[in-house]
Amino acid sequence: MNTNNIPEQILGRIKPGPAEQQRMQEVARRIISLVDRAAAGTGLTDISGMLVGSAARGTWISCEHDLDIFISFPEDTPKQDLKAVGLNIARQVAANADNSEERYAEHPYVHAVFDDFEVDLVPCFRVDSAAQIKSAVDRTPFHNLFILDRIEGLEDEVLLLKQFMKGAGVYGSDLRTGGFSGYLAELLVIHYGSFMEVLQAADSWKPGVTIDIIEHGNKQHNDPLVMVDPTDPARNVAAALTLDKFAGFVDRARQYLDSPAIELFFPSLSTRLSDSGFDNITSNRGTFLMALVFGKPDVVEDVLYPQLFMLHNSITDLLSRNRFTVLNGDVWAGDRETAVVLELEVWRLPPVNKHTGPPVWEKTHAEKFKQKYIEYRGFSEIYIENGRYVVDIQRKYTDAADLLRNEIHSCRLGRNVGESIKLGFKILQGSELLELDNQGFREFLTGFFHLN
Ligand code: UTP
Ligand code: MN
Ligand code: MN
Repeated sequence: MNTNNIPEQILGRIKPGPAEQQRMQEVARRIISLVDRAAAGTGLTDISGMLVGSAARGTWISCEHDLDIFISFPEDTPKQDLKAVGLNIARQVAANADNSEERYAEHPYVHAVFDDFEVDLVPCFRVDSAAQIKSAVDRTPFHNLFILDRIEGLEDEVLLLKQFMKGAGVYGSDLRTGGFSGYLAELLVIHYGSFMEVLQAADSWKPGVTIDIIEHGNKQHNDPLVMVDPTDPARNVAAALTLDKFAGFVDRARQYLDSPAIELFFPSLSTRLSDSGFDNITSNRGTFLMALVFGKPDVVEDVLYPQLFMLHNSITDLLSRNRFTVLNGDVWAGDRETAVVLELEVWRLPPVNKHTGPPVWEKTHAEKFKQKYIEYRGFSEIYIENGRYVVDIQRKYTDAADLLRNEIHSCRLGRNVGESIKLGFKILQGSELLELDNQGFREFLTGFFHLN
């Protein structure tokens, strides 16, 4: 295989041809005119539709028809008007779509499907500079201007980088992925000059690496990668990037620099763990699996996943405070159910719990401890070890699943996850996990054991 022309081969697969590009522009134009027509009917002036995002910058990947269309309002529009009128316009536009739904970020917006185009209709304020934004989405038009100014001739490099990031599983700044956004990929290419130069730079990145293209940053960030937003000196474009996605990209870049291969641009197909595969793996590993399962809250992923991650951390803390040890853990969400899955190294503990008290010479504490345990019918009398009082008492939870079942309500539960758990939950143990007879869950398990 000739590895010199890998980028050309990839581009041959992911770069939209003239017909696809033309169709994208036509659909965008049509929807923008629908926005403008609906805006004219509101009685308010100076509201207009604008195309932003990768479709406006020639940095979109073939067959990914994501149109980001903003409904831009004058800056002095009251916030409630922008919300109400913006939503009203978006709904009128969406009336022409195949289907649509309202979604909630900082402000409500509408996601609509026109043929094979996924369209976001997002109301925003037209402010003078990104430093004066009134909501987070108001930055986007400034991103657009900055990128359009410098991207000419580099579009293919961006396509390669985005596709490479997809292959590495690190593309997407949604809170579930915690990866690189499209805008971040564009800025990396602008800064380093090309796809290959981004990879070469990443080879020696360390957490904390900072890029400030126009050298105007005015704030400290404690993130693995800091890309100061050229349109806003206080913001890190890479704020959503997690340490592991950062490291995953560095690792993958090195792999490509060592031996370039087409496969690195495409995620490997996820395989489903079979019943027997599961039994083999768990018995060989000798660990114990348990899953807290509850109904999936009806909220968008950017709301759901942070709550699931928080629950996962909180459960891990609960277990380790009680001397159970967690080897691996992750969260999963299917269509209707959600789970926190844990693999335990220690899941059963003996009834006896060695309870250590204060040093003998701390007189007040020592007396209190003795008073408390003098009548206690445990496994031992009070004794002294390493200068401290100790007593062997009854352990409250000898079984990790019992602990979880009884103490789940003391965990930090986000609002929606909390409501759902209150309605009911179950704890599956060992091969009971296979009761979640969902193909997505079987794929999740393959990933859980790092088998692909
Ligand atoms: P998109 O998520 O649609 O990204 O956000 P994109 O740049 O168009 O890339 P792809 O090709 O669809 O994946 C649209 C715009 O919203 C802003 C950016 O300006 C982006 O171009 N945005 C989005 C951010 O600034 N940060 C984000 O995390 C997401
Ligand atoms: Mn987009
Ligand atoms: Mn989008």
